[in-house]
Amino acid sequence: MRIKVERKSITDIPCDLLVVNLFEDAEIPSGSCAAVNKVLDGLIVKLMKEGEISGKSERVTLIHTHDKIPAKRVVVVGLGKTKKFDMNAIRTAASAAIQVAKKVKAAKVCSIVHGAGTGKFNIIDAARATVEGTLIGSYEYEGIGREKDEPVFKVKEFIIVERDKIKMIDIRQGATYGEIFGRAAVRAKDLVNAPSNVVTPNYLANYARDNARKVGVKCDVFDITDIKKMGLEALWNVARGSEEREKLIVMRWNGGKRGDKEVIGLIGKGVTFDSGGISLKGSKNLWEMKTDMAGGAAVIEIMIAAARLKVKRNIVAVVPATENMPDGASLKPGDVIGSLSGKTIEIISTDAEGRLILADAVTYAKKLGATKLIDVATLTGGCTVALGDAASGLMGNDQKFVDEVVAASQKSGEKVWQLPLFEEYGEYLKSDVAYIQSCTETGMASPIIGGIFIEKFVEDTPWVHIDIAGTAFLRKKRTYLPRGATGVPVRTVLEYLSGV
Ligand code: BES
Ligand code: ZN
Ligand code: ZN
Repeated sequence: MRIKVERKSITDIPCDLLVVNLFEDAEIPSGSCAAVNKVLDGLIVKLMKEGEISGKSERVTLIHTHDKIPAKRVVVVGLGKTKKFDMNAIRTAASAAIQVAKKVKAAKVCSIVHGAGTGKFNIIDAARATVEGTLIGSYEYEGIGREKDEPVFKVKEFIIVERDKIKMIDIRQGATYGEIFGRAAVRAKDLVNAPSNVVTPNYLANYARDNARKVGVKCDVFDITDIKKMGLEALWNVARGSEEREKLIVMRWNGGKRGDKEVIGLIGKGVTFDSGGISLKGSKNLWEMKTDMAGGAAVIEIMIAAARLKVKRNIVAVVPATENMPDGASLKPGDVIGSLSGKTIEIISTDAEGRLILADAVTYAKKLGATKLIDVATLTGGCTVALGDAASGLMGNDQKFVDEVVAASQKSGEKVWQLPLFEEYGEYLKSDVAYIQSCTETGMASPIIGGIFIEKFVEDTPWVHIDIAGTAFLRKKRTYLPRGATGVPVRTVLEYLSGV
């Protein structure tokens, strides 16, 4: 889908589908919807009175224009209640509209910027949310040889139409941001939805390298021999039971100004399939463990998008990629292993593999000079128990840094909720035989314990941990997010990095 911005009047532009909107509590249409109502001889008002058109969130009404205007059809999309209106309402409306476009096979879709006239947001943000909702809402994982009732229809052009020359500048800027943010999320979704026999550690590494090259991001990939030599013992131990060997993906973007000493370290859990290892998981929903690399996919896409945005920061990304499989050679419960930091770890469950590879990855990021760390991981089922699929768990050792990431998530609409890292929890991980044990047997406070474990390797570096176990993959569609991978938290971290 090409995204464009054109200076024209919506009642003059030829297209297959024209998108206008309506608030749930509006008694009469306003703005563009009113203009279209006028040229359609009051049809929208008539249908509103008859109860056919409603401004309820996600409601869409398709109207044929019968050549009264150059647009073949108009879709009136609901924005929900004025009071509840926010950037996610814009994304949801844009997503609902583009799904209608796909259904009626509209190749050229024209739309106004949702919410621009409300004064609640600046036009840049409204345009950005309109484009994000359009890209994310129209996304569909194509599958591999899937039988389809009909071929997937792809909208060719999505054009934002605006008459005012001054507003055009901001809309162009917002649409560009929306395209970069939206495409990054969609690309991460594609990696997460793909099966683990396709997205192997090797695939992720090649994907990162090939795409990094295109945008000027440096990328190094280390294999088992390097990883052993470099001393990433925890990563190596998790990979021991797998035929598909581990890779360490390291990406670098040096966008910081001269003398900028800050280096942001991004770490993403890249477990391409988590069977649990010797502490084997049950078979129910086990297929979903192909999504255990969602943190890694997010970090790779964040790096690519940061380059496209020309973010003025120095960033280093570390993605440890591996499978977690049972085998005669596998790591076993009770084993004591080393790590890059030199700290020893007693393995309680081999299913707590994410924190092991993250421990080595944060240590490595620090060795590369990272002065601030953000890690993203599908770390604990307990996070899904606590927060469901509506919010990611967020933890950190520096409240200012945590607050900055929370603020970014409020703009991106990807909800997060902070969990505490009280000192008391540290006692849960005291081991009789090693520096630390990997987890507890009880599973008490497991998302927090996961955070505490990583913190032991982060030490004093300012750090934020985002547990996306519940939010990375939706079993049922919600608002602008179709079922399947969500691309969370790509847009939040990008927002934090770029501040646009
Ligand atoms: N990959 C899982 C966490 C997960 C669960 C992600 C459900 C997405 C959906 C992780 O490696 C894991 O198995 N964690 C264990 C930790 C426990 C052994 C302390 C868990 O949550 O049960
Ligand atoms: Zn696991
Ligand atoms: Zn896992």
